[in-house]
Amino acid sequence: MCGIIGYLGDREATPILMESLKRLEYRGYDSAGVAVLADGAGADRRTSVTKSETKVDVLIEKLQANMPTGKLGIGHTRWATHGKPTYVNAHPHTDCHQRIYVVHNGIIENFAELKSELEAKGHEFTSDTDTEVVPHLIEANYKGDFLAAVRAALKRLRGAYAMAMFSTDDPELLVGARLNAPLVVGLGEKEYYVASDITAIIPYTKRVLVLGEGEVAAVTPLGPQVYTLDGHTVKPKLIHVDWDVTQAQKGGYPHFMLKEINESSEAVANAMRGRLTDDGAVSFREFDVPDEDLKKYREVLLLGMGTSLHAAMIGEQVIEDWAGIPARAEDASEFRYRRPTFGKHTLGVVITQSGETADTLVGLHQAKERGALTVAITNVVASSAARDADGAIYLNAGPEIGVASTKTFLAHLMSLYLLGLRLATVNGRVSLERRDEIVKALRALPGQVDELLARNKEIAELAHRYSKYRNFMYTGRGLGYPVGLEGALKLKEISYIHAEGTTGGELKHGPIALLDDQFPVVAICTASSTKDKMVSNVHEIVARNAPVLALITEGDKSLDGVATDVFEMPEVEEAAAAILNSVMLQLFAYHVAVELGQNVDQPRNLAKSVTVE
Ligand code: AGP
Ligand code: GLU
Repeated sequence: MCGIIGYLGDREATPILMESLKRLEYRGYDSAGVAVLADGAGADRRTSVTKSETKVDVLIEKLQANMPTGKLGIGHTRWATHGKPTYVNAHPHTDCHQRIYVVHNGIIENFAELKSELEAKGHEFTSDTDTEVVPHLIEANYKGDFLAAVRAALKRLRGAYAMAMFSTDDPELLVGARLNAPLVVGLGEKEYYVASDITAIIPYTKRVLVLGEGEVAAVTPLGPQVYTLDGHTVKPKLIHVDWDVTQAQKGGYPHFMLKEINESSEAVANAMRGRLTDDGAVSFREFDVPDEDLKKYREVLLLGMGTSLHAAMIGEQVIEDWAGIPARAEDASEFRYRRPTFGKHTLGVVITQSGETADTLVGLHQAKERGALTVAITNVVASSAARDADGAIYLNAGPEIGVASTKTFLAHLMSLYLLGLRLATVNGRVSLERRDEIVKALRALPGQVDELLARNKEIAELAHRYSKYRNFMYTGRGLGYPVGLEGALKLKEISYIHAEGTTGGELKHGPIALLDDQFPVVAICTASSTKDKMVSNVHEIVARNAPVLALITEGDKSLDGVATDVFEMPEVEEAAAAILNSVMLQLFAYHVAVELGQNVDQPRNLAKSVTVE
């Protein structure tokens, strides 16, 4: 999820690893490390490992004080998914004999079973990471051919990885591999790089090979060779990059927000990774409560602020619907001043991307004091929320830099859906058929998000036409209501246009008074049990001359000739539609703000993490 760099060439590797990690720093990380193989033969050829459990700067200071020499090395900035950000958990990781070194971005879904298998064979593990199974698995397969051992090991892995690795037995071989996470090979003059991000290597080379899914690059002084896991040679794609460093940090996108929206399908997939089996069983590693215990919780309280509160409001409805237990979402800052009637039968779910939002933390502490079982759904491992709650569900969405939350909102929704499914199963409230339908719908989401992202131009065109208005109303029913509130929040945060959200039913109790031909309404009318009611609401809106942009399910003709614009969405489960509709509204808000020339990544008056009440 964070940054990887590998170097093989005729220069000293350490300064290059240091500079590259520094360039990857913008992404945010929790710890960092490098391994450099010294030149020489026999006992002289040792690997020097340097790690920092905090900043890259600390790593750099350590390296400057004791600079390892060697022309082959790998480096990593970590965004922890398995195990706290500590010295031992920082990458690189190695095997029992300190012969194989690996840095990894991503998640090995089946690491637990591989770890037990390897432990049974006598392998000794030192960290809590999923990554550490990789060097041990390579070691277990090693019969003198490092590349063959790597391929054999990779075949056993499920999940997502981008990796750089080497073996002390092969001082002229740097190996890179990827599956569901990006990796490139940079081609320099008599030197080669392996990197998760073009940013890392942009000052050194503009010639880059992009590895395909499941491919392995074997880089030697003669250049890179790319193979499939079965050992067949493939011809990789060579691209010439003409970005500068700033553009490279944004992956070629003009803003972090757009880059992060484009990472949504990965974020949604990562939130599911390793947690959902095909038959619908859900497990959370750091919130591992036995069914019998979980069953005792008779209500669910969901706390959050801003975007996370909107996720809570969606979670509330989905948990009630699927699991059949009362759920309520609360603004955490208000909740603390009430005298709520909950206690030891309550499951308290705190939703916070950063894990550091003061208002949310106070709510969490209060819930704990009253005896609730608490779980934090957060993107930051070992954040305050994760530490203080009884359990944690990590989003694994990778760092989010844009102030407006986008991909983490979608990862929050996916996590809440999994929690809903788990509670539904534990409480015996969901039939096997229904569970099947839900699992299928969730699994299809990453692909559907990608298809929607491909329609970016269409959304930009709509935004272009709507950016002239100074006021917006968002309206929906059921899950469409919090989705609308979040759409309105995105728009106001980054474009400074007044936007508010209301339920379709509430409209005529007041808000409709605002509407005229200068006050457009974004109406969420995709398939749901209340869709027909929304269609009636749109008629009421149109009768007040307000322009209407309606999100509808493809093939639905009910708003033809009624709404000013319709945007067709695929026909999916309502919970899945909440994710897809949100992606559409995020892109819409983004393009409106860009039209208006606003600073979308750092909007005025806002901070990424609000640590004061
Ligand atoms: C999102 O776009 C906002 N900037 C903000 O509302 C945010 O969601 C809120 O401050 C909560 O943050 P958290 O998820 O880190 O707790
Ligand atoms: N899953 C690995 C870990 O937790 C890699 C995380 C990353 O992508 O930085 O250590």
